[in-house]
Amino acid sequence: RVAALIGAPTDVGAADRGASMGPEALRVAGLQEALAGRGLEVLDRGNLNGPGNPWRPAVDGYRHLHEVVHWNRQVHDAVYAQLQASRLPILLGGDHCLGIGSISAAARHCREKNRTLRVLWLDAHTDFNTRELSPSGNLHGMSVACLCGFGPRELVELSGQVPAIEPRAVRQIGIRSVDPAEKRFVHEQGLNVFDMRYIDEMGMRRAMRGALSGMDERTHLHVSFDVDFLDPVIAPGVGTTVPGGPTYREAQLCMEMIADTGQLCSLDIMELNPAFDMHNRTAMLAVDLVESLFGKSTLMRPVDADGGI
Ligand code: ARG
Ligand code: MN
Ligand code: MN
Ligand code: MN
Repeated sequence: RVAALIGAPTDVGAADRGASMGPEALRVAGLQEALAGRGLEVLDRGNLNGPGNPWRPAVDGYRHLHEVVHWNRQVHDAVYAQLQASRLPILLGGDHCLGIGSISAAARHCREKNRTLRVLWLDAHTDFNTRELSPSGNLHGMSVACLCGFGPRELVELSGQVPAIEPRAVRQIGIRSVDPAEKRFVHEQGLNVFDMRYIDEMGMRRAMRGALSGMDERTHLHVSFDVDFLDPVIAPGVGTTVPGGPTYREAQLCMEMIADTGQLCSLDIMELNPAFDMHNRTAMLAVDLVESLFGKSTLMRPVDADGGI
């Protein structure tokens, strides 16, 4: 398999500056080498270009809409090109507004290849705000809503079809911060959320079984990994930390269970913010988890190790 790294050094959709340094921090932490160690051929396509962060207040409910649209078009085109070339695109964010471009590209690809898209959204946040609901106007908090057809036309139409995806294509894991109005909308749209309470009560294993259920050989599995998914004790290098996230072991199991499906076709690594990090440790943790996502395991496991439990 061939993986293609695509850097998107921007923070135009975020509440804080610094996610623009994410792509380089992931490279410095050894992402290419780790993937090569998993047997992948790795092409680094370098970084995309786009406008700087104007750092302005929201206009008509959106902050930096023009810049967010520009970056998402670049991301969409770059991710789509790699999928068409039968490569596995890995988007290095950048803030999570870029999940719109990346997943729109996966949606377009799946439509053309007659595959079913499943999106795993690993995050502390549902990112299901609209301009009417958002307390901040930051577009990184609106990505999933945009993908489901609720948002500015330029973003909602990126995949060439509205909506790009249905809410039922999405499984969210690790959620523990949802704004009050956003919460009502999540329920109204029937978004499939395995929140931290679910993980506390049922365990990561049950959550992942639910998140991965109903897939078959036609499923294109897209993982959108917002690094703030992880507990801030182990992953301080993000802008919007929320206490009480998955532990190191829970996160490893999550990644290992995704790897076991053998269906991973595209990946986003988002919201890593080196300005908040210590000695790049959050980037190194992300790389460590990505190794598990690509099949690294302690021992070889029998095929039926799950025993149907
Ligand atoms: N819910 C908050 C907002 O909409 C925070 C969103 C954080 N999103 C993220 N991708 N880190 O402003
Ligand atoms: Mn494909
Ligand atoms: Mn997010
Ligand atoms: Mn988040």
